[in-house]
Amino acid sequence: MDIYEVIKKRRSVRSYRSNPISNEVLMRILDTARFAPSSRNSQEYKLIVVKDPGKIEEISKAAFGINFIKEAPIVIAGVSLNPNEVMENNVPSYPVNVAIILDHITLLAVAEDLGSCWITSFNQEEMKEILNVPEEYKIVALLTLGMPYDDAAVKTRKKLGEIVCFESFKDKD
Ligand SMILES: Cc1cc2nc3c(=O)[nH]c(=O)nc-3n(C[C@H](O)[C@H](O)[C@H](O)COP(=O)(O)O)c2cc1C
Repeated sequence: MDIYEVIKKRRSVRSYRSNPISNEVLMRILDTARFAPSSRNSQEYKLIVVKDPGKIEEISKAAFGINFIKEAPIVIAGVSLNPNEVMENNVPSYPVNVAIILDHITLLAVAEDLGSCWITSFNQEEMKEILNVPEEYKIVALLTLGMPYDDAAVKTRKKLGEIVCFESFKDKD
């Protein structure tokens, strides 16, 4: 699968088969995601990989009971270790840094015939407690990872002209 196919095939998977993910596949995904860019090449994050079903159940509770989290054999939390840094352009770097590596994981998952889903609807403080994350850090997002239960649904997206303009800002090109 080339990169164009991978990007178009990726979708949010909210139903998983119980098949485990082999350690070999998991480590291949993580070790490749490591090459993601970050501001000043800081890699100021930690990925917490959770496989323990009891802990995944706790995670699901702190995510307002989202049920499909419990179906996933793996949940990965993307944690920023430097959530106060602001880049020269006056934009915080941490959500950008963590989002890039998590997005790399979602694409690598597709290349391994796996599915994933971003989760940001969770209680920050409860999740920190469950995952033993120090107060000064920030859990940016979680990803579920597993074998998709069903086939891809059709995606809807804005037309290119609505999100791209050339040479200067325009509402529509
Ligand atoms: C930053 C971010 C946060 C998201 N948070 C959640 C979430 O909390 N729960 C959920 O079910 N999906 C979440 N999603 C998935 C989006 O709803 C999904 O990507 C979007 O609807 C497009 O669908 P697709 O991923 O299938 O292409 C999130 C996605 C992103 C990028």
